[in-house]
Amino acid sequence: MHDYSPTPDYLKNRVILVTGAGDGIGRQAALEYAAYGATVILLGRTVKKLEAVYDEIVAANGPEPAIVPMDLKGATVKHYQDMAVTIEQQFGALHGILHNASLLGHLSPFKEIQENEYNDIMRVNVHADFFMTQALLPVLLKADNASVIFTSSGVGSKGRAFWGSYAISKFATEGMMQVIADEYDNSTLRFNCINPGKTRTAMRASAYPAEDPLTLRTPEEIMGVYHYLMSDDSVNVTGQTLKAQPDK
Ligand SMILES: NC(=O)c1ccc[n+]([C@@H]2O[C@H](COP(=O)([O-])OP(=O)(O)OC[C@H]3O[C@@H](n4cnc5c(N)ncnc54)[C@H](OP(=O)(O)O)[C@@H]3O)[C@@H](O)[C@H]2O)c1
Repeated sequence: MHDYSPTPDYLKNRVILVTGAGDGIGRQAALEYAAYGATVILLGRTVKKLEAVYDEIVAANGPEPAIVPMDLKGATVKHYQDMAVTIEQQFGALHGILHNASLLGHLSPFKEIQENEYNDIMRVNVHADFFMTQALLPVLLKADNASVIFTSSGVGSKGRAFWGSYAISKFATEGMMQVIADEYDNSTLRFNCINPGKTRTAMRASAYPAEDPLTLRTPEEIMGVYHYLMSDDSVNVTGQTLKAQPDK
């Protein structure tokens, strides 16, 4: 899976929503899904970054993407429902979601976590994935074998001191994925998590400022599992958490 190499155009005529598509892992996944034929819906909070990804896809002769500027911190159920209506009207069906956007917050002792930051992290990392998935279910069901990918972390299965709200949000993400996967086990939908592992991005740098980023894999180097779970080779895989990097 880590070396999974998809067939060219395996995403042709498919529509895939990527959250946090302007930077880091989400940016790379959006560029690659488009390179393999998908019409990508680029969702994020910094329009300039989304426009840069849009331009890169168009310059590479990929299918014209769509941009959805949205700050998940303030987004409501109504925003997600409106987005679902627009996607259905514009594209007819949604073949995949990569829930990738996340907020890390400050690493700090549990007793010092502030209510505001806890709420922001839960809104972006958990509520957004929850209510967006809920709103998009009807349009996902219009596709053959749609794939929904959530993004977890090592601290989403084993708690770690000082990773407070972020770690708790990733446990919630894993639980949410397992609940939905079980509920839709007999449907055409599948739900899985990816744990990217240490990856050279702005989020990793803010958690480990003293680390040499050159020791880390780039987003480009961890894309195998992202392709695998979006491809028809994984139609029978659901309820799983897959690591994007092999254990050392
Ligand atoms: N990098 C790692 O080592 C690592 C390890 C384990 C798990 N992960 C997970 O992998 C995923 C991608 O992380 P990354 O390392 O690529 O992080 P990143 O470079 O910081 O990118 C995160 C993306 O999420 C977007 N985002 C953050 N808050 C948002 C909000 N309120 N509304 C909309 N978009 C928002 C950011 O938008 P802006 O660009 O506008 O800020 C950015 O595009 C995350 O779920 C993270 O938890 C990463």
